[in-house]
Amino acid sequence: MTNPSYPFRVLVIIPTYNEAENITTIISRLQAAQPEAHVLVVDDNSPDGTGDIADRLAAEDAADRIHVMHRTEKNGLGGAYIAGFHWGLDNGYDVLVEMDADGSHAPEQLHRLLDALNDGADLVCGSRYVPGGSTVNWPKRREILSRGGNIYSRLALGSSLRDITGGYNAFRRTALETIDIDSVESQGYCFQVDLKWRTVRAGFDVREVPITFVERQIGESKMSGDIVREALVKVTVWGFRSRLGLDRKDGNPVRQG
Ligand code: GDD
Ligand code: MN
Repeated sequence: MTNPSYPFRVLVIIPTYNEAENITTIISRLQAAQPEAHVLVVDDNSPDGTGDIADRLAAEDAADRIHVMHRTEKNGLGGAYIAGFHWGLDNGYDVLVEMDADGSHAPEQLHRLLDALNDGADLVCGSRYVPGGSTVNWPKRREILSRGGNIYSRLALGSSLRDITGGYNAFRRTALETIDIDSVESQGYCFQVDLKWRTVRAGFDVREVPITFVERQIGESKMSGDIVREALVKVTVWGFRSRLGLDRKDGNPVRQG
C-alpha cells in the first residue's frame, strides 16, 4: 500500500492510562502507516511510566512529529480528549483523530478514515457494525454490551449511526470548532456518543467506514460499571431532551444551571 499524502495536517490523539507496554508499538505502527501524521499522547500521570516512555519517543523523533501532554490525574477519556482537541486546534491541525493506545484501532486502517474526509466528510467514524467491519477476540460479554449500547443509543436518540459508541474517529477541525466541546461533560466512553451526536445534529457530513477492532493483547481495559451507568443515564436524558425540543439549533445541548 502506498502512503497517499492528504491536503490536510493530521493529528492523532492517543489517550493513555497505563499503556507502557503498548505505546511504543502503536506509535511505530502509526508512523509506518501514515508517516506524515503527528501524534499527541495525552497521559494521565500513568503509574506505570507511560508518560516517560512517550517523552523519550518524542525526544528521539528527529522529525518532531510526537507530542506529549501530561495531566496530573486519571480524569476519564472525555477530559483527556477535550484537552487534546484544544491543543490540536491551537496548533493549527486540520484533522484530529481519536485512537486507542492498545492496538484495537489499526493505524494501517487510518487511511480509510482519511480518504473519506478527503472525499468531503466532516466526521468519519471507524465502524465495527457496518458491512466489512468486525471485532476480533472480544469477549462475548463486551460484544453484547457494545451491540446493546449501540441499539439503545440508536433508539433513544433516533440516530442512524451503526457504531455510535466507537472510539476510532476523525474530525475535521470545523466540526470541533462548531460543537461546543467545553460543554461536553461526559467523562467515560459515552463521550464518544456525545461528540458524534452533537456533530450529526449540527448538520455536518458524518460517515462510517468499516474497521476491524482487535481486542488488546496486553494490559487491561479501563471500562467499568460507572462508565456504563453514566452512558445509560446520559443517553436516556439526551434522547428525551431532543424529543421534547429542548436542544439548541446548533446541535449543542442547552447548558444547565
Ligand atoms: N488519559 C486517559 N485517561 N486515557 C484513558 C483513560 C483515562 O481516564 N481511560 C482510558 N484511557 C485510554 C486507554 O489507555 C486506551 O488508550 C484508550 O483510552 C481506550 O481505553 P480501553 O480501556 O482500552 O477501552 P476499551 O477497549 O474498553 O473500549 C473501547 O471501546 C469503547 C466502546 O466501543 C474504546 O475504543 C472506547 O473508546 C470505546 O468507547
Ligand atoms: Mn481497549
